[in-house]
Amino acid sequence: MNSNKITIAIDGYSSSGKSTMAKQLAKNIGYRYIDSGAMYRAVTLYGMKNGIVSPEGNVNIPTLIKILPEISIDFHLDGDKQYTMLNGENVENEIRTLQVSNCVSPVAAIPEVRHALVRMQREMGKSKGIVMDGRDIGTVVFPDAEMKVFCDASAEKRAERRYKELTDKGENVTYEDVLANVVKRDHIDETRDESPLRCAQDAVRLDNSGMTIEEQNKWLIDLFHKITNQK
Ligand code: DC
Repeated sequence: MNSNKITIAIDGYSSSGKSTMAKQLAKNIGYRYIDSGAMYRAVTLYGMKNGIVSPEGNVNIPTLIKILPEISIDFHLDGDKQYTMLNGENVENEIRTLQVSNCVSPVAAIPEVRHALVRMQREMGKSKGIVMDGRDIGTVVFPDAEMKVFCDASAEKRAERRYKELTDKGENVTYEDVLANVVKRDHIDETRDESPLRCAQDAVRLDNSGMTIEEQNKWLIDLFHKITNQK
C-alpha cells in the first residue's frame, strides 16, 4: 500500500457534474478513477438483456439476486477514455441510454445488489490512490475516506447537462423526459431504505449550478492540495 495516497469519495445527485470533475482530478493527480454508477447501470443492463428487468423498470428481484454471481464488471482504460466492461464486453454506450437510466434506480435500491457492488468497490479501493464517485461512497463504501465531496446543482441545470450529453450522442430524447428522469431518480435515490443518497457529515458540499467545468476542476484540485498538505 502506498501510504502517501489517499481515498477520495465524490457523491452527489445524478448529472451534478461529479463524474466529470472526479475523472479530471484522478487524471491530474495520477489516481485510479471508478464510476460506481456505471456498475449499477451494468447490472441493470444485464438484467434487461436477460428479461429480469422490464423496460418499465419492474425487477424480478429473486432471479436478479440469484444471477448476481454471473456478473463481472471491470473498467478498461484506453488513453483518456474509460470503458465499462460487463462480462468482458464493452457496454459503455449501452449503459448510458435513457432506457437504462429509467430502470437503474429500482435495481440500485435492492440491498443484495448494493452489498455485492460495495464489496467490489472496496476491493478496487483497497490500495488507496482512488477517486470514486457515486451516491454512498463517503457514507458507506469508504466512510474513512480522507477527502469527501458532495455535489449538487438545480434539477433544471442537471437535466440541461444530461440532455446535451444524450443529444450530442445522437439520442432522440426531449428535455422534459430527461428532467422527469432526473427528478424521479433523485426521489428514489433519496428515499430508498438501503444507503439512501445523503451528504456525509464530514463531506465538503459544492453547489456547482453556476460554475464552469474549469472552475469546478480548480476548486477540486485546490481542495485536494489543502487536504494532502495538512496530512
Ligand atoms: O451516477 P449515475 O447517474 O450513473 O448512477 C446511476 C444510478 O445508480 C443512480 O440512479 C443511482 C445509482 N447509484 C447508487 O445508488 N449508488 C452509487 N454509488 C452510484 C449510483
